[in-house]
Amino acid sequence: MSDDASKTAPGGSMAGRRLEGKVGLVTGGASGIGASTCRLFAGEGASVVIADIDEALGREVEAEIVGAGGDATFLQLDVSDEDAWVSVIGDTVRRYGRLDVVVNNAGMSGAQSRAVVEDTGLDIWNRVMGVNSTGVFLGTKHAIPEMRKAGGGSVINVSSIYGIVGSKGGTVYHASKGAVRAFTKAAAVQYAPEGIRVNTVCPGFADTEMTRGLHAQPGVREYRESVTPLGRLGQPDDIAWGIVYLASDEARFVTGCDLIIDGGMTAQ
Ligand code: NAI
Repeated sequence: MSDDASKTAPGGSMAGRRLEGKVGLVTGGASGIGASTCRLFAGEGASVVIADIDEALGREVEAEIVGAGGDATFLQLDVSDEDAWVSVIGDTVRRYGRLDVVVNNAGMSGAQSRAVVEDTGLDIWNRVMGVNSTGVFLGTKHAIPEMRKAGGGSVINVSSIYGIVGSKGGTVYHASKGAVRAFTKAAAVQYAPEGIRVNTVCPGFADTEMTRGLHAQPGVREYRESVTPLGRLGQPDDIAWGIVYLASDEARFVTGCDLIIDGGMTAQ
């Protein structure tokens, strides 16, 4: 490793050049897996747009990356709002001149969404689908014209192992994450001729703000660790490194795939 490649990058990781010259937009970039992705992207030489509904947290991530010498801009975005997408993609291209990577990572679970089918209200169904599925559709739809202008690109949609298998609750969460996987494969086939790759990342049980309350309930953390063959919960960086790979040119022959990062959970 050269001296240059071993210096400390924004977020404390090892700096690299895997995303040099690329412009990436990460939804849900203010927290958890999205914030880790923003830090690693900046550390690998990308310019990063942190797009999130939470301005206060997003500004903190922006300041941290910029303070460490990276290039990041926070833009407020509700991923379920199509007009907001048009405006954020426009602002990104005005600022950075191009768009190479979009990570549709923003998502919600919410206690009400953990219900079985009969207890799932239409309101919570529409709200979770609006963020977890419609948000991914809108982000992909509005990224494509800019990626076409850039001569190609990479869209990475964050699903879940709960988009692959069911569980005893979480009806709408499962449905919303399953939709992400099938949508991704459709988009991958449609846009492959233009060099626009579209892939899914499926995280397993991970420690983030989303799962903090759940993992604090008696026995939940222990149960999840016990059913994960590698014996621990995932950390945000465990997932974000997979996203870096799919964003980079190392993945130039990879499209329409589900990259499962779950400590072996769904292998059994
Ligand atoms: P998190 O709660 O730490 O981060 C989610 C981010 O999304 C927050 O910054 C939040 O403000 C933002 N967000 C929520 N609604 C939004 C909206 N309408 N518009 C824009 N931003 C919005 O959670 P985490 O765990 O980092 O989640 C990231 C993704 O990973 C989600 O899609 C989640 O479903 C998925 N995932 C997480 C797993 C876990 O165990 N933590 C497991 C499998 C998938």
